[in-house]
Amino acid sequence: VTAAATVRRALAADWPAVRALLREVDELHVHIAPGYFRAAARPEADWQRAMDDADTQLLVAELDRVIGLVSARIYDTPPDPTMVPRRRCHVDTLVVTAAHRRQGVGRALLDTVAVWARARGAVELLLTTWAGNPEADAFYERLGYRTLSAVRSKVL
Ligand SMILES: CC(C)(COP(=O)(O)OP(=O)(O)OC[C@H]1O[C@@H](n2cnc3c(N)ncnc32)[C@H](O)[C@@H]1OP(=O)(O)O)[C@@H](O)C(=O)NCCC(=O)NCCS
Repeated sequence: VTAAATVRRALAADWPAVRALLREVDELHVHIAPGYFRAAARPEADWQRAMDDADTQLLVAELDRVIGLVSARIYDTPPDPTMVPRRRCHVDTLVVTAAHRRQGVGRALLDTVAVWARARGAVELLLTTWAGNPEADAFYERLGYRTLSAVRSKVL
C-alpha cells in the first residue's frame, strides 16, 4: 500500500484535478476504441450534477495532490419480471494518474466504494472494461472481478 494516500469524498474544488484525471482515462479510451470515443472537454456541470446525486459516490485519492478518482452509482434492477430484483453498484469511472499506479491506490478507492455500496444495500459491484486495456483486466482479475457478459461487435 502506498505511503500516505488518503481516500475522501470529492469536493467541488477538486474539479481541476478531476478534469485532468478524466482526460487521462478519456485519452486511453480514445486510443483503444476510437470508433466509440473522441477527445472532448468534460463539462463541469456534469461533475456538479454527479456531486448532487444522492445515489452517486465520488471519491478521490490524495497524496500531496489528488492522484485518483472513482465514481460509482447505486441502481436497482428495472421492474422486469424475468430479472432477479437486486440492488447493485456500478463503477462508472476509475482512474489513478499514471505516475502513481501499482501503489494500491486503485484498490483503496474500490475498497472504499464497496463499503459505501454495501451500506446502501448493494450486493454486487459491476463495471465495464474495454477490450485492449490489459492493465485494467489484470487489476480487476486480481481483485476478484469475473466477467459477467461480453459485448460483441462486427463491422458492417
Ligand atoms: C486500472 C487502474 C485504476 C489500477 O490502479 P492502480 O492504483 O495502479 O492499482 P493497484 O496498485 O491498486 O493494483 C492492485 C493490484 O492489481 C494488479 N494490477 C494493477 N495494475 C496492473 C498492471 N498494470 N499489470 C498487472 N497487474 C496489475 C496487481 O496485482 C496489483 O497489486 P501489486 O501492484 O501489489 O502487484 C489504473 O491502472 C488506471 O488508472 N488505468 C487507466 C484507467 C483505467 O483503465 N481504468 C479502469 C477501466 S475504466
